[in-house]
Amino acid sequence: MALTGCSSGSDDGADGASGPELSVSGAFMPQPVSDMGAGFLTVRNDGGAADRLTSVTSPLSDEVTIHESKGQTMRKVDGFDVPADGELALERGGSHIMLDRLKQRPVKGDKVTVELRFEKSDPIRVELPVMEPTYVPPKSKPSQDDGGSTGTGSTTSHH
Ligand code: CU
Repeated sequence: MALTGCSSGSDDGADGASGPELSVSGAFMPQPVSDMGAGFLTVRNDGGAADRLTSVTSPLSDEVTIHESKGQTMRKVDGFDVPADGELALERGGSHIMLDRLKQRPVKGDKVTVELRFEKSDPIRVELPVMEPTYVPPKSKPSQDDGGSTGTGSTTSHH
């Protein structure tokens, strides 16, 4: 409980519980094609205080780390902030959960359990449904091919 002074000062007494209120959505894992897997999800914080994702554990791997991607490279980070009244998005091409040396290789249809640990909030246990290796979650913006998510014939070759 490090009270370093409320700069906004607007929530004094507004509600007693001004801690982070986290919820997780959109979690999935693309089916691993090696003994390495990646997890993606969004952590939403509806509370008035920021939190921080500090580590992730999973029964499937003893080496779970959190990575951020910068261009073509990725690197391990100590944590990710979950801003107050904001969200932390781990998505393809960006930050992700990395599971190295999988004890077994899950296939599409499986569920992989991970536990997210935070600086302030209690750990959150999440089940990641395993999707096809090329799965990309639907965006809010409707793009090409309407709804047909069966084929892998993506036409996005330009970058
Ligand atoms: Cu990585």
